[in-house]
Amino acid sequence: MITSMQTHLTGITTTGTPHLGNYVGAIRPAIAASHRPDVRSYYFLADYHALVKNQDPDAVRQSSLEVAATWLALGLDTGRSIFYRQSDIPEIPELTWILTTVTAKGLMNRSHAYKAAVQANEEAGDADPDKGVTMGLFSYPILMAADILMFKAHRVPVGRDQKQHVEMARDIAQRFNFLYGEQFVLPEADIGANTAVLTGLDGRKMSKSYGNTIPLFVPAAQLRKLIMRIKTNSLEPGVPKETEGSTLFEIYQAFATPEETEAMRRRYAEGIGWGDLKKLLFEYLDAHLAGPRAEYERLMADPGHVEAVLKQGALRARETATPFLADIRRAVGIRPLAAP
Ligand code: TRP
Repeated sequence: MITSMQTHLTGITTTGTPHLGNYVGAIRPAIAASHRPDVRSYYFLADYHALVKNQDPDAVRQSSLEVAATWLALGLDTGRSIFYRQSDIPEIPELTWILTTVTAKGLMNRSHAYKAAVQANEEAGDADPDKGVTMGLFSYPILMAADILMFKAHRVPVGRDQKQHVEMARDIAQRFNFLYGEQFVLPEADIGANTAVLTGLDGRKMSKSYGNTIPLFVPAAQLRKLIMRIKTNSLEPGVPKETEGSTLFEIYQAFATPEETEAMRRRYAEGIGWGDLKKLLFEYLDAHLAGPRAEYERLMADPGHVEAVLKQGALRARETATPFLADIRRAVGIRPLAAP
């Protein structure tokens, strides 16, 4: 039924290389949703957002290619879902400006990301609390609101850290609708309460900002090396071990079936040695990732193909964006002065 069709939308900032944590937390659930017949999904590379954090042009381009190749290699259904690059949709920055004109500055003052930057300056004793804060960082949530509102998304799957941004998009939509009539759907964040969060090499949450990640598609030898670096305690082989709090177990569990996980639990109780466990985890991950990794390498070597896929996605996204932006412009009074 068309009426029950839900629209899901999420963006991936193109900074850095996708890692195991991104996969289990965001990519895997999104790809699963991309196959659902009752969901229309939009996934995009948020490369305009990347500019706020990354001012190295080659790195921005490289990350766009890596992120796109990762999603494609892992089996995103690009027939059913719409997969595009934000910067291929000129309607998004246009809508951003229109939304900027109805967004209270006070709302942006409350953004966690902005407040964290100000707090860091205050703690460092800087005279200027806004030191290093660009307008891009400050109004980042408005660009994100445009991403979401442009496609009338109902649900926005994001990590907990992005929840406030989705709520701001909702506030901005409400303000616009109040001023100019019901145009926008009010979106809701979908925090994925049971999606896994992985721990990184050093025991903190796996995150590119901590530099403790295991990239998804490194060559096998490097994958082995990284797994060998995962932190464990000093219990000897033969001594029973806790699965709770074990990064090795957590990563294994994120990939394994429930039966495999149970069997692994038993091996912990029997006191399997950390060295053997690391070897086992490496072999398991390597076997799972080998297929998509080969596809990833093929795509990385053929950027023209990836570019064509993204361009095709942009055409489809603009089938919605172009007429909707025309409605929005009309709604705010950006109109022809005379009938043509
Ligand atoms: N800001 C998000 C992040 O850093 C990425 C993003 C940009 C996004 N636009 C979006 C996510 C729209 C969801 C919807 O993770």
